[in-house]
Amino acid sequence: MYALVLGSAAGGGFPQWNCNCPMCSGVRNGTIQAQARTQSSIAISTDKIHWLLVNASPDIRTQINTLHHYLQPARALRDTGISAVLLADSQIDHTTGLLILRESKQPLELYCTDSVYEDLTSGFPVLKMLSHYCGVNRHALPLDGSALSIPKLDNLRVTPVPLHSKAPPYSPHRNNPSAGDNVGFWFEDTQSGGKLFYAPGLGELEAHLHPYFANADCVLVDGTCWTDDEMSRRHVGQKLAREMGHLPQSGEGGMIQWLANFPDTRKILIHINNTNPILDEDSAERAELVQAGIEVSFDGMVFEL
Ligand code: MLT
Ligand code: MN
Ligand code: ZN
Repeated sequence: MYALVLGSAAGGGFPQWNCNCPMCSGVRNGTIQAQARTQSSIAISTDKIHWLLVNASPDIRTQINTLHHYLQPARALRDTGISAVLLADSQIDHTTGLLILRESKQPLELYCTDSVYEDLTSGFPVLKMLSHYCGVNRHALPLDGSALSIPKLDNLRVTPVPLHSKAPPYSPHRNNPSAGDNVGFWFEDTQSGGKLFYAPGLGELEAHLHPYFANADCVLVDGTCWTDDEMSRRHVGQKLAREMGHLPQSGEGGMIQWLANFPDTRKILIHINNTNPILDEDSAERAELVQAGIEVSFDGMVFEL
């Protein structure tokens, strides 16, 4: 299987349009060693021709144009390498891209949970809007640990993994969490044997996640914030990372400590918020990650499993 990082930043991207925090102004002015990043999305393929888009970022158009040698096979006047779309949640940074894909010749093959489907037809009705354009052919995701196959993604098995999190502010079940508000994905290539666990939003290290981290060749997981109070430290907001469903990397019970339990697994962070000091490649925080054997994904990163 091939995993392609379309966007490695959290919601807002890097730099964020209205932000002058040290990271955003640093990358804008070239005063820190850092790479700009688009908003959170990856694509998975087993043949490098048919791709499963995992989350649809508002930056999808730029991402497809930049990575056209993967995502635009040009077999016909109107064509795409995207065979289906899979959603981890109904957040703006993961779903707004559906509207950008409205010119699709066929209805989009869309895989999401019932709670995400509910959000996208009520509080954030992008699917209702899309029904006036290409529409979607929606497939429900199981939450009982069973795997699914997706047409054209030969040899790929996808298992949704329910994660403890919070639905977005516009969700009808914002204050009434339901299983399926947020899922991670266990991808398995039955031919190569490659195994990837992907969870761009991971707020809690629940016991049922241990085997996925232990058995994966690679985990591509939540790298939103370095510290829980990063937003207030940077004077850009009050919310704690954990309140937003994102486990910070540093400190007791943080991601670095958790990942140390899995010495044989390749560990890569994704969904990096623009406030996170690890974006500065010369920072002490980045050096700490390197020391711990943890990589930071970047737009256009591709790896084979
Ligand atoms: C999140 O991951 O917490 C959200 O996507 C943030 C946002 O995009 O507003
Ligand atoms: Mn997000
Ligand atoms: Zn910023």
